[in-house]
Amino acid sequence: MIGKLNHIAIVVPDLSAATAIYRDTLGADVSTPVDLPDHGVTTVFVNLPNTKIELLHPLGENSPVAKFLANNPSGGMHHVCYEVDDIYAARDKLLEDGARVLGSPEPKNGAHGKPVLFLHPKDFCGTLVEIEQV
Ligand code: CO
Repeated sequence: MIGKLNHIAIVVPDLSAATAIYRDTLGADVSTPVDLPDHGVTTVFVNLPNTKIELLHPLGENSPVAKFLANNPSGGMHHVCYEVDDIYAARDKLLEDGARVLGSPEPKNGAHGKPVLFLHPKDFCGTLVEIEQV
């Protein structure tokens, strides 16, 4: 059901320092910061030949990554995102198999303007999983 790895998201305490590490130390192609107020994050996209890394930093009062950063002050891997062809078919199969969707089971538009859902880490080997319809 899942296809390509779309991205890995890493929450960072200092977005410009993290951007510099990826751009200067690791020599990657990085974007300028993008504010996503609907998602409560500012993102820098790191474009790799086969996937992307999303550096996330909390934006606003109720950022969904603020608590993660409080628990992981140096930052850390937040979620992995897998591509699916049909997010509704994927969701229905996952729910049928007993997996839990976080929040509303209605897909929301994610960072790339495409429908996404998040799945409970306890159902996926301790890792928060995002699925994105491409
Ligand atoms: Co993501």
